[in-house]
Amino acid sequence: MSPETTLAGVAVLIDAGPTYEDIDPVRFLGNRSSGKMGFAIAAAAVAAGANVTLVAGPVALATPPGVARRVDVRSALEMRAAVLAAVNGADIFIATAAVADWRVAEYSARKIKKGPSGAPVLELIENPDILAEVAAREPRPFVVGFAAETDHVAEHARAKLVRKKLDLLAANHVDERVGISADDNALELIWPGGSETLPRAPKAELARTLVARIAAHYHARAAA
Ligand code: PMT
Repeated sequence: MSPETTLAGVAVLIDAGPTYEDIDPVRFLGNRSSGKMGFAIAAAAVAAGANVTLVAGPVALATPPGVARRVDVRSALEMRAAVLAAVNGADIFIATAAVADWRVAEYSARKIKKGPSGAPVLELIENPDILAEVAAREPRPFVVGFAAETDHVAEHARAKLVRKKLDLLAANHVDERVGISADDNALELIWPGGSETLPRAPKAELARTLVARIAAHYHARAAA
């Protein structure tokens, strides 16, 4: 492993998977994220020598061998609390999680029943943006965001990189073959001074390439 791609002695914090926003004791708002991309990145970071903390939403995946610590969470608020509790010791934060943008304004402790007044109207409120919050900290780790887009991928992704003040952003197109819940992915890696296409590959393979690129950018930043 070349000095630029090793992460020996580097603490990496990764969030992965979906979040579930409970509506009542039996229902929730969720999304299709499987956690595969984030867990593959965790495995690749371990292989690169990093000390890895993995914050996982509700997924059915085993912890990759060598991950130092896994924290399981359900909702966006729980994910935020777990990330903020771990971020102080982190050199690199990689936000692969598909965090729900909204949660219901009021959780119903009792199951919502069908009735003569028709379908319930759910009021939604915005969840905090965990990635933007970490990126706004001072001091902050090297911050890598993800973006899942259905259209204008590069355009939307670059806007996110700037708005959220990220060091790197990995954008993926969402369709039925790649990206969310699929076994393969393809990424457009974007940073303030450039971009690189990482072509379609199984997530484990793509994660190894991505981690090598993250390490190179991280070391270049540290040396600057
Ligand atoms: O889990 P898989 O099935 O393997 O799928 C992987 C993936 C497609 C989910 C992953 O590669 C990916 O793209 N993750 C980000 C998905 C996403 O929610 O993108 P976004 O454009 O909504 O969010 C942009 C960034 O902000 C992400 O890094 C996200 O983690 C972060 N975010 C978003 C909202 C929020 N409230 N808090 C956040 O931290």
